[in-house]
Amino acid sequence: MADSRFFIKTMGCQMNEYDSDMVAQQLCAQGWKRTQEMEDADLIIINTCTVREKPEHKAYSLIGRISSIKKKRPELIIAIIGCLAQQRRGEIIERFPEVDMVIGPREVIIFLDHLKRLLSSRREEKIVATCLDTPLSYTSFTKGYFRGRVTGYVSIMQGCNNFCSYCIVPYVRGREISRPLEEILREVEFLISEGIRDITLLGQNVNSYRWKGQDFPALLKEVSKINGLWRLRFTTSHPKDLSDRLIACFGEIENLCSHIHLPFQAGSNRVLRLMNRNYTRERYMEMVNKLRDIRPDIAITSDVMVGFPGETEEDFEQTIGLIRKVEFDNLYSFRYSDRPGTFAEKMEHKIDDKEKSKRLIILQTVQKEITLKKNRSLAGKEVEVLVEGTSKKKDQLAGRTSTNKVVNFSGDIKLIGHLVKVKIEEAYANSLKGRYMKNVR
Ligand code: SAH
Ligand code: SF4
Ligand code: F3S
Repeated sequence: MADSRFFIKTMGCQMNEYDSDMVAQQLCAQGWKRTQEMEDADLIIINTCTVREKPEHKAYSLIGRISSIKKKRPELIIAIIGCLAQQRRGEIIERFPEVDMVIGPREVIIFLDHLKRLLSSRREEKIVATCLDTPLSYTSFTKGYFRGRVTGYVSIMQGCNNFCSYCIVPYVRGREISRPLEEILREVEFLISEGIRDITLLGQNVNSYRWKGQDFPALLKEVSKINGLWRLRFTTSHPKDLSDRLIACFGEIENLCSHIHLPFQAGSNRVLRLMNRNYTRERYMEMVNKLRDIRPDIAITSDVMVGFPGETEEDFEQTIGLIRKVEFDNLYSFRYSDRPGTFAEKMEHKIDDKEKSKRLIILQTVQKEITLKKNRSLAGKEVEVLVEGTSKKKDQLAGRTSTNKVVNFSGDIKLIGHLVKVKIEEAYANSLKGRYMKNVR
Protein backbone atom coordinates (compact mmCIF):
# COMPACT_ATOMS: atom_id res chain seq x y z
CA MET A 1 0.00 0.00 0.00
CA ALA A 2 3.08 2.21 -0.43
CA ASP A 3 1.64 5.10 -2.40
CA SER A 4 -2.01 4.63 -1.66
CA ARG A 5 -3.95 7.62 -0.43
CA PHE A 6 -6.93 7.90 1.83
CA PHE A 7 -9.41 10.67 2.45
CA ILE A 8 -11.38 10.79 5.67
CA LYS A 9 -14.36 13.02 6.42
CA THR A 10 -15.73 13.30 9.93
CA MET A 11 -19.33 14.21 10.72
CA GLY A 12 -20.84 14.35 14.22
CA CYS A 13 -19.28 14.84 17.63
CA GLN A 14 -15.80 14.78 19.17
CA MET A 15 -15.99 11.01 19.67
CA ASN A 16 -16.12 10.68 15.91
CA GLU A 17 -13.19 13.06 15.50
CA TYR A 18 -11.25 10.91 17.90
CA ASP A 19 -12.24 7.71 16.08
CA SER A 20 -11.27 9.20 12.72
CA ASP A 21 -7.80 9.96 14.07
CA MET A 22 -7.57 6.41 15.35
CA VAL A 23 -8.39 5.00 11.90
CA ALA A 24 -6.06 7.47 10.17
CA GLN A 25 -3.22 6.54 12.54
CA GLN A 26 -3.69 2.85 11.70
CA LEU A 27 -3.50 3.63 7.99
CA CYS A 28 -0.49 5.98 8.29
CA ALA A 29 1.37 3.30 10.25
CA GLN A 30 0.92 1.02 7.20
CA GLY A 31 2.33 3.59 4.79
CA TRP A 32 -0.93 5.07 3.55
CA LYS A 33 -0.82 8.83 2.85
CA ARG A 34 -3.61 11.18 3.82
CA THR A 35 -5.06 13.46 1.16
CA GLN A 36 -7.39 16.42 1.56
CA GLU A 37 -8.85 15.85 -1.92
CA MET A 38 -11.53 13.22 -2.33
CA GLU A 39 -10.75 12.96 -6.04
CA ASP A 40 -7.14 11.83 -5.34
CA ALA A 41 -8.04 9.11 -2.87
CA ASP A 42 -7.86 5.33 -3.31
CA LEU A 43 -9.88 4.91 -0.13
CA ILE A 44 -12.63 7.28 1.05
CA ILE A 45 -13.84 6.95 4.62
CA ILE A 46 -16.91 8.77 5.91
CA ASN A 47 -17.35 8.79 9.67
CA THR A 48 -21.07 9.32 10.14
CA CYS A 49 -23.48 10.61 12.79
CA THR A 50 -27.16 9.82 13.27
CA VAL A 51 -28.04 11.66 16.47
CA ARG A 52 -30.70 13.69 14.67
CA GLU A 53 -32.46 13.50 11.32
CA LYS A 54 -30.33 16.23 9.78
CA PRO A 55 -26.90 14.59 10.16
CA GLU A 56 -28.40 11.33 8.90
CA HIS A 57 -29.59 13.03 5.72
CA LYS A 58 -26.32 14.90 5.30
CA ALA A 59 -24.48 11.59 5.43
CA TYR A 60 -26.70 10.05 2.73
CA SER A 61 -26.15 12.95 0.40
CA LEU A 62 -22.37 12.68 0.86
CA ILE A 63 -22.41 8.90 0.33
CA GLY A 64 -24.42 9.53 -2.84
CA ARG A 65 -21.77 11.94 -4.12
CA ILE A 66 -18.94 9.54 -3.42
CA SER A 67 -20.81 6.69 -5.05
CA SER A 68 -20.91 8.71 -8.24
CA ILE A 69 -17.11 9.22 -8.08
CA LYS A 70 -16.80 5.44 -7.88
CA LYS A 71 -18.90 4.95 -10.98
CA LYS A 72 -16.09 6.71 -12.86
CA ARG A 73 -13.29 5.04 -10.83
CA PRO A 74 -14.38 1.50 -9.91
CA GLU A 75 -11.10 0.75 -8.09
CA LEU A 76 -12.01 3.27 -5.36
CA ILE A 77 -12.73 1.75 -1.93
CA ILE A 78 -15.56 3.31 0.09
CA ALA A 79 -15.86 2.77 3.84
CA ILE A 80 -18.82 4.11 5.83
CA ILE A 81 -17.99 4.06 9.52
CA GLY A 82 -19.49 5.44 12.73
CA CYS A 83 -22.95 5.73 14.22
CA LEU A 84 -25.06 5.71 11.04
CA ALA A 85 -23.09 2.67 9.86
CA GLN A 86 -24.06 0.94 13.10
CA GLN A 87 -27.70 1.94 12.81
CA ARG A 88 -28.30 1.04 9.16
CA ARG A 89 -25.74 -1.79 8.71
CA GLY A 90 -26.29 -3.71 5.47
CA GLU A 91 -29.08 -1.35 4.41
CA ILE A 92 -26.37 1.14 3.47
CA ILE A 93 -24.96 -1.30 0.92
CA GLU A 94 -28.43 -2.10 -0.40
CA ARG A 95 -29.04 1.58 -0.98
CA PHE A 96 -25.49 2.40 -2.15
CA PRO A 97 -24.01 -0.73 -3.77
CA GLU A 98 -20.73 1.14 -4.39
CA VAL A 99 -19.97 1.03 -0.66
CA ASP A 100 -17.41 -1.69 0.25
CA MET A 101 -17.28 -1.49 4.05
CA VAL A 102 -19.76 -0.58 6.80
CA ILE A 103 -18.06 -0.39 10.19
CA GLY A 104 -19.70 0.58 13.48
CA PRO A 105 -18.04 2.80 16.11
CA ARG A 106 -16.98 -0.11 18.31
CA GLU A 107 -15.16 -1.84 15.45
CA VAL A 108 -13.04 1.06 14.22
CA ILE A 109 -10.33 -0.14 16.62
CA ILE A 110 -9.75 -2.97 14.15
CA PHE A 111 -10.35 -1.03 10.94
CA LEU A 112 -7.16 -2.40 9.38
CA ASP A 113 -8.22 -6.02 9.91
CA HIS A 114 -11.45 -5.31 8.06
CA LEU A 115 -9.59 -3.56 5.26
CA LYS A 116 -7.22 -6.51 4.92
CA ARG A 117 -10.17 -8.89 4.72
CA LEU A 118 -11.67 -6.79 1.96
CA LEU A 119 -8.42 -6.69 -0.01
CA SER A 120 -7.72 -10.39 0.39
CA SER A 121 -11.15 -11.21 -1.01
CA ARG A 122 -10.11 -9.09 -4.01
CA ARG A 123 -12.88 -6.81 -2.87
CA GLU A 124 -15.55 -9.29 -3.73
CA GLU A 125 -16.69 -9.63 -0.15
CA LYS A 126 -18.60 -6.68 1.32
CA ILE A 127 -17.70 -6.00 4.94
CA VAL A 128 -20.40 -5.23 7.50
CA ALA A 129 -18.83 -5.06 10.98
CA THR A 130 -21.16 -3.89 13.71
CA CYS A 131 -20.31 -5.86 16.83
CA LEU A 132 -20.96 -3.77 19.95
CA ASP A 133 -19.01 -5.73 22.55
CA THR A 134 -15.47 -5.45 21.26
CA PRO A 135 -13.07 -4.92 24.19
CA LEU A 136 -11.96 -1.34 24.73
CA SER A 137 -8.20 -1.50 24.85
CA TYR A 138 -5.60 -0.16 22.44
CA THR A 139 -2.12 1.17 22.90
CA SER A 140 -0.71 1.49 19.41
CA PHE A 141 -0.07 5.12 18.61
CA THR A 142 1.59 6.39 15.46
CA LYS A 143 4.56 8.67 16.14
CA GLY A 144 4.46 11.97 14.30
CA TYR A 145 0.76 11.73 13.40
CA PHE A 146 -0.27 14.59 15.74
CA ARG A 147 2.74 16.85 15.07
CA GLY A 148 1.64 20.46 14.63
CA ARG A 149 -1.51 20.09 16.71
CA VAL A 150 -1.95 21.92 19.99
CA THR A 151 -5.18 20.35 21.24
CA GLY A 152 -6.21 16.72 21.38
CA TYR A 153 -8.78 14.22 22.60
CA VAL A 154 -8.48 11.02 24.59
CA SER A 155 -11.43 8.66 24.81
CA ILE A 156 -11.85 7.30 28.34
CA MET A 157 -14.96 5.22 27.76
CA GLN A 158 -17.41 4.05 25.15
CA GLY A 159 -21.16 3.72 24.99
CA CYS A 160 -23.98 4.92 27.20
CA ASN A 161 -26.42 3.28 29.62
CA ASN A 162 -28.70 6.23 30.18
CA PHE A 163 -31.33 5.74 27.50
CA CYS A 164 -32.62 9.28 27.47
CA SER A 165 -35.93 8.72 25.72
CA TYR A 166 -35.08 10.77 22.60
CA CYS A 167 -31.56 9.43 22.08
CA ILE A 168 -30.18 6.86 19.67
CA VAL A 169 -26.62 6.88 21.06
CA PRO A 170 -27.04 3.90 23.45
CA TYR A 171 -28.28 1.82 20.50
CA VAL A 172 -25.42 2.71 18.18
CA ARG A 173 -22.52 2.94 20.64
CA GLY A 174 -23.56 0.11 22.92
CA ARG A 175 -23.31 -0.27 26.69
CA GLU A 176 -20.89 1.72 28.80
CA ILE A 177 -17.38 0.40 29.10
CA SER A 178 -14.38 2.19 30.60
CA ARG A 179 -10.86 2.12 29.26
CA PRO A 180 -8.01 0.94 31.50
CA LEU A 181 -6.65 3.90 33.48
CA GLU A 182 -3.02 3.12 32.67
CA GLU A 183 -3.79 3.18 28.96
CA ILE A 184 -5.38 6.61 29.22
CA LEU A 185 -2.31 7.95 31.03
CA ARG A 186 0.00 6.48 28.36
CA GLU A 187 -2.06 8.05 25.58
CA VAL A 188 -2.01 11.48 27.25
CA GLU A 189 1.79 11.16 27.58
CA PHE A 190 2.05 10.22 23.93
CA LEU A 191 0.00 13.25 22.82
CA ILE A 192 2.15 15.54 24.96
CA SER A 193 5.29 14.06 23.37
CA GLU A 194 3.78 15.04 20.01
CA GLY A 195 3.46 18.67 21.14
CA ILE A 196 -0.17 18.73 22.32
CA ARG A 197 -0.80 20.91 25.38
CA ASP A 198 -4.58 20.95 25.79
CA ILE A 199 -6.36 17.61 26.22
CA THR A 200 -10.07 16.83 26.46
CA LEU A 201 -11.10 13.52 28.01
CA LEU A 202 -14.06 12.11 26.12
CA GLY A 203 -17.06 9.98 27.00
CA GLN A 204 -20.86 10.18 26.61
CA ASN A 205 -21.07 10.46 30.37
CA VAL A 206 -17.58 10.80 31.82
CA ASN A 207 -18.98 10.77 35.37
CA SER A 208 -19.65 7.06 35.15
CA TYR A 209 -15.99 6.23 34.42
CA ARG A 210 -14.89 3.30 36.64
CA TRP A 211 -11.67 1.31 36.54
CA LYS A 212 -10.66 -1.05 39.35
CA GLY A 213 -12.20 1.09 42.07
CA GLN A 214 -11.03 4.37 40.55
CA ASP A 215 -13.69 6.87 39.49
CA PHE A 216 -13.65 9.90 37.22
CA PRO A 217 -12.33 12.45 39.77
CA ALA A 218 -9.48 10.02 40.54
CA LEU A 219 -8.67 9.69 36.84
CA LEU A 220 -8.81 13.45 36.39
CA LYS A 221 -6.30 13.96 39.19
CA GLU A 222 -3.93 11.34 37.77
CA VAL A 223 -4.06 12.86 34.29
CA SER A 224 -3.62 16.42 35.57
CA LYS A 225 -0.26 15.51 37.12
CA ILE A 226 1.33 14.46 33.84
CA ASN A 227 4.28 16.68 32.97
CA GLY A 228 3.76 19.08 30.08
CA LEU A 229 -0.06 19.10 30.23
CA TRP A 230 -1.07 22.76 30.37
CA ARG A 231 -4.80 22.38 30.00
CA LEU A 232 -7.18 19.59 30.89
CA ARG A 233 -10.86 19.43 29.87
CA PHE A 234 -13.59 16.80 29.76
CA THR A 235 -16.89 16.24 28.02
CA THR A 236 -19.72 15.28 28.40
CA SER A 237 -20.92 15.39 31.94
CA HIS A 238 -24.49 14.25 32.68
CA PRO A 239 -26.11 16.47 35.35
CA LYS A 240 -27.64 13.48 37.14
CA ASP A 241 -24.15 12.14 37.95
CA LEU A 242 -22.25 15.38 38.55
CA SER A 243 -20.91 14.58 42.02
CA ASP A 244 -19.66 16.98 44.67
CA ARG A 245 -16.27 15.27 44.30
CA LEU A 246 -16.15 16.21 40.64
CA ILE A 247 -17.26 19.77 41.38
CA ALA A 248 -14.52 19.94 44.03
CA CYS A 249 -11.94 19.11 41.32
CA PHE A 250 -12.43 22.64 39.96
CA GLY A 251 -11.09 23.92 43.26
CA GLU A 252 -8.25 21.42 43.48
CA ILE A 253 -6.82 20.92 40.01
CA GLU A 254 -5.01 23.93 38.68
CA ASN A 255 -4.68 22.92 35.04
CA LEU A 256 -8.36 21.88 34.83
CA CYS A 257 -9.90 24.51 32.53
CA SER A 258 -12.64 26.88 33.66
CA HIS A 259 -15.28 25.33 31.47
CA ILE A 260 -17.92 22.66 31.82
CA HIS A 261 -20.36 21.41 29.22
CA LEU A 262 -23.44 20.35 31.14
CA PRO A 263 -26.39 19.56 28.84
CA PHE A 264 -29.74 20.43 30.42
CA GLN A 265 -32.03 19.58 27.44
CA ALA A 266 -35.19 21.18 28.88
CA GLY A 267 -36.26 23.55 31.62
CA SER A 268 -39.56 21.90 32.49
CA ASN A 269 -39.54 19.15 35.11
CA ARG A 270 -42.41 17.43 33.34
CA VAL A 271 -40.44 17.24 30.08
CA LEU A 272 -37.23 16.25 31.91
CA ARG A 273 -39.15 13.32 33.39
CA LEU A 274 -40.46 12.27 29.98
CA MET A 275 -36.91 12.51 28.67
CA ASN A 276 -35.75 10.17 31.45
CA ARG A 277 -33.06 12.62 32.51
CA ASN A 278 -33.30 12.01 36.27
CA TYR A 279 -32.79 15.55 37.53
CA THR A 280 -34.97 18.61 38.01
CA ARG A 281 -34.45 22.24 37.02
CA GLU A 282 -33.93 23.03 40.72
CA ARG A 283 -31.20 20.41 41.04
CA TYR A 284 -29.57 21.68 37.84
CA MET A 285 -29.54 25.23 39.19
CA GLU A 286 -28.01 23.97 42.42
CA MET A 287 -25.13 22.44 40.48
CA VAL A 288 -24.58 25.63 38.52
CA ASN A 289 -24.36 27.58 41.78
CA LYS A 290 -21.93 25.12 43.33
CA LEU A 291 -19.69 25.24 40.26
CA ARG A 292 -19.69 29.04 40.30
CA ASP A 293 -18.96 29.13 44.02
CA ILE A 294 -15.89 27.00 43.56
CA ARG A 295 -14.66 28.58 40.27
CA PRO A 296 -16.24 32.00 39.89
CA ASP A 297 -14.99 32.45 36.31
CA ILE A 298 -16.21 29.03 35.10
CA ALA A 299 -17.90 29.07 31.69
CA ILE A 300 -20.98 26.87 31.50
CA THR A 301 -22.21 25.64 28.13
CA SER A 302 -25.07 23.28 27.43
CA ASP A 303 -27.28 21.41 24.98
CA VAL A 304 -31.00 22.02 24.78
CA MET A 305 -33.77 20.89 22.48
CA VAL A 306 -37.15 22.33 21.57
CA GLY A 307 -40.29 20.51 20.49
CA PHE A 308 -39.95 17.28 22.47
CA PRO A 309 -43.24 15.34 22.06
CA GLY A 310 -45.94 17.06 24.10
CA GLU A 311 -43.83 20.15 24.91
CA THR A 312 -46.38 22.88 25.66
CA GLU A 313 -45.93 26.65 25.38
CA GLU A 314 -45.58 26.64 29.14
CA ASP A 315 -42.87 23.95 29.11
CA PHE A 316 -41.02 25.96 26.49
CA GLU A 317 -41.32 29.09 28.61
CA GLN A 318 -39.69 27.18 31.44
CA THR A 319 -36.76 26.35 29.17
CA ILE A 320 -36.39 30.03 28.28
CA GLY A 321 -36.68 30.88 31.97
CA LEU A 322 -33.87 28.52 32.90
CA ILE A 323 -31.65 29.90 30.12
CA ARG A 324 -32.16 33.42 31.46
CA LYS A 325 -31.54 32.29 35.01
CA VAL A 326 -28.33 30.36 34.32
CA GLU A 327 -26.98 32.69 31.63
CA PHE A 328 -24.99 30.08 29.73
CA ASP A 329 -21.79 31.14 28.01
CA ASN A 330 -22.94 29.25 24.96
CA LEU A 331 -25.73 26.86 23.98
CA TYR A 332 -26.09 24.18 21.33
CA SER A 333 -29.77 24.11 20.50
CA PHE A 334 -31.68 21.61 18.41
CA ARG A 335 -35.15 20.83 17.14
CA TYR A 336 -36.25 17.45 18.47
CA SER A 337 -36.33 14.80 15.75
CA ASP A 338 -37.58 11.22 15.96
CA ARG A 339 -34.87 8.57 16.11
CA PRO A 340 -35.85 5.04 15.13
CA GLY A 341 -36.20 2.63 18.04
CA THR A 342 -36.20 5.23 20.82
CA PHE A 343 -38.98 5.62 23.38
CA ALA A 344 -39.79 9.17 22.30
CA GLU A 345 -40.36 8.03 18.73
CA LYS A 346 -43.43 6.15 19.99
CA MET A 347 -44.77 9.03 22.08
CA GLU A 348 -47.91 10.92 21.13
CA HIS A 349 -48.43 14.67 20.67
CA LYS A 350 -45.56 15.33 18.30
CA ILE A 351 -44.90 19.03 17.74
CA ASP A 352 -45.09 20.20 14.14
CA ASP A 353 -41.98 21.45 12.35
CA LYS A 354 -43.16 25.02 12.01
CA GLU A 355 -43.74 25.32 15.74
CA LYS A 356 -40.36 23.74 16.52
CA SER A 357 -38.62 26.21 14.22
CA LYS A 358 -40.46 29.11 15.81
CA ARG A 359 -39.39 28.02 19.29
CA LEU A 360 -35.81 27.48 18.18
CA ILE A 361 -35.54 31.00 16.78
CA ILE A 362 -36.91 32.51 19.99
CA LEU A 363 -34.50 30.46 22.08
CA GLN A 364 -31.49 31.30 19.93
CA THR A 365 -32.31 35.00 20.02
CA VAL A 366 -32.44 34.94 23.82
CA GLN A 367 -29.16 33.06 24.05
CA LYS A 368 -27.36 35.26 21.52
CA GLU A 369 -28.06 38.28 23.68
CA ILE A 370 -26.65 36.48 26.73
CA THR A 371 -23.54 35.26 24.88
CA LEU A 372 -22.88 38.75 23.58
CA LYS A 373 -23.35 40.28 27.00
CA LYS A 374 -20.91 37.77 28.51
CA ASN A 375 -18.35 38.26 25.76
CA ARG A 376 -18.62 42.06 25.97
CA SER A 377 -17.89 41.93 29.69
CA LEU A 378 -14.39 40.75 28.71
CA ALA A 379 -13.61 43.89 26.70
CA GLY A 380 -10.57 45.68 28.10
CA LYS A 381 -9.49 42.61 30.10
CA GLU A 382 -6.36 40.54 29.62
CA VAL A 383 -6.94 36.83 29.04
CA GLU A 384 -4.63 33.85 28.64
CA VAL A 385 -4.87 32.25 25.22
CA LEU A 386 -3.37 28.99 24.00
CA VAL A 387 -2.55 29.71 20.36
CA GLU A 388 -3.89 26.85 18.26
CA GLY A 389 -3.35 28.05 14.69
CA THR A 390 -4.55 30.68 12.27
CA SER A 391 -8.02 32.20 12.16
CA LYS A 392 -10.66 31.04 9.67
CA LYS A 393 -9.71 33.84 7.28
CA LYS A 394 -6.02 32.90 7.82
CA ASP A 395 -5.04 36.52 8.39
CA GLN A 396 -4.74 36.27 12.18
CA LEU A 397 -3.77 33.87 14.92
CA ALA A 398 -6.50 31.99 16.75
CA GLY A 399 -6.67 30.30 20.10
CA ARG A 400 -8.93 29.72 23.04
CA THR A 401 -9.20 30.91 26.60
CA SER A 402 -9.41 28.45 29.45
CA THR A 403 -13.17 29.21 29.34
CA ASN A 404 -13.22 27.86 25.75
CA LYS A 405 -13.86 31.18 24.02
CA VAL A 406 -12.22 31.73 20.63
CA VAL A 407 -9.84 34.70 20.47
CA ASN A 408 -8.36 36.08 17.23
CA PHE A 409 -5.40 38.48 17.20
CA SER A 410 -2.48 39.59 15.05
CA GLY A 411 0.87 38.03 15.85
CA ASP A 412 3.84 36.03 14.67
CA ILE A 413 3.08 32.52 13.46
CA LYS A 414 5.83 31.31 15.82
CA LEU A 415 3.40 31.93 18.68
CA ILE A 416 1.39 28.84 17.67
CA GLY A 417 1.65 26.32 20.50
CA HIS A 418 2.39 29.00 23.09
CA LEU A 419 0.34 30.40 25.92
CA VAL A 420 0.06 34.18 25.58
CA LYS A 421 -1.67 37.17 27.18
CA VAL A 422 -4.11 38.97 24.93
CA LYS A 423 -6.03 42.14 25.69
CA ILE A 424 -9.62 41.87 24.46
CA GLU A 425 -10.67 44.78 22.26
CA GLU A 426 -13.85 43.62 20.55
CA ALA A 427 -16.47 41.02 21.37
CA TYR A 428 -18.80 39.21 18.96
CA ALA A 429 -21.27 36.38 19.45
CA ASN A 430 -18.87 33.65 18.30
CA SER A 431 -15.44 35.07 19.04
CA LEU A 432 -13.35 37.77 20.64
CA LYS A 433 -10.76 40.00 19.03
CA GLY A 434 -7.73 41.20 20.92
CA ARG A 435 -4.18 42.52 20.97
CA TYR A 436 -1.13 40.42 21.78
CA MET A 437 0.55 41.53 25.03
CA LYS A 438 3.20 38.99 26.01
CA ASN A 439 4.19 35.34 26.19
CA VAL A 440 3.34 33.33 29.27
CA ARG A 441 5.09 30.13 28.14
N1 SAH B 1 -24.02 12.39 25.89
C1 SAH B 1 -24.39 13.70 25.69
C2 SAH B 1 -25.16 14.01 24.44
C3 SAH B 1 -24.79 13.46 23.14
S1 SAH B 1 -25.88 13.81 21.84
C4 SAH B 1 -25.30 14.08 26.85
O1 SAH B 1 -25.87 13.26 27.49
O2 SAH B 1 -25.49 15.23 27.04
C5 SAH B 1 -25.71 15.57 21.66
C6 SAH B 1 -26.97 16.35 21.80
O3 SAH B 1 -27.86 16.08 20.74
C7 SAH B 1 -27.79 16.04 23.03
O4 SAH B 1 -27.31 16.68 24.16
C8 SAH B 1 -29.17 16.52 22.64
O5 SAH B 1 -29.35 17.88 22.95
C9 SAH B 1 -29.17 16.37 21.13
N2 SAH B 1 -30.06 15.29 20.71
C10 SAH B 1 -29.93 13.97 20.97
N3 SAH B 1 -30.96 13.28 20.44
C11 SAH B 1 -31.76 14.17 19.83
C12 SAH B 1 -32.98 14.08 19.10
N4 SAH B 1 -33.60 12.93 18.91
N5 SAH B 1 -33.52 15.22 18.61
C13 SAH B 1 -32.90 16.41 18.79
N6 SAH B 1 -31.76 16.56 19.48
C14 SAH B 1 -31.18 15.46 20.00
FE1 SF4 C 1 -27.88 10.14 24.73
FE2 SF4 C 1 -28.63 10.56 27.21
FE3 SF4 C 1 -26.62 8.91 26.70
FE4 SF4 C 1 -26.31 11.51 26.35
S1 SF4 C 1 -26.69 10.48 28.30
S2 SF4 C 1 -25.70 9.88 24.94
S3 SF4 C 1 -28.31 12.14 25.63
S4 SF4 C 1 -28.76 8.61 26.14
FE1 F3S D 1 -23.46 11.51 16.39
FE2 F3S D 1 -22.61 9.20 17.23
FE3 F3S D 1 -21.62 11.42 18.23
S1 F3S D 1 -24.67 9.68 16.71
S2 F3S D 1 -23.30 12.85 18.11
S3 F3S D 1 -21.42 10.76 16.15
S4 F3S D 1 -22.02 9.54 19.32
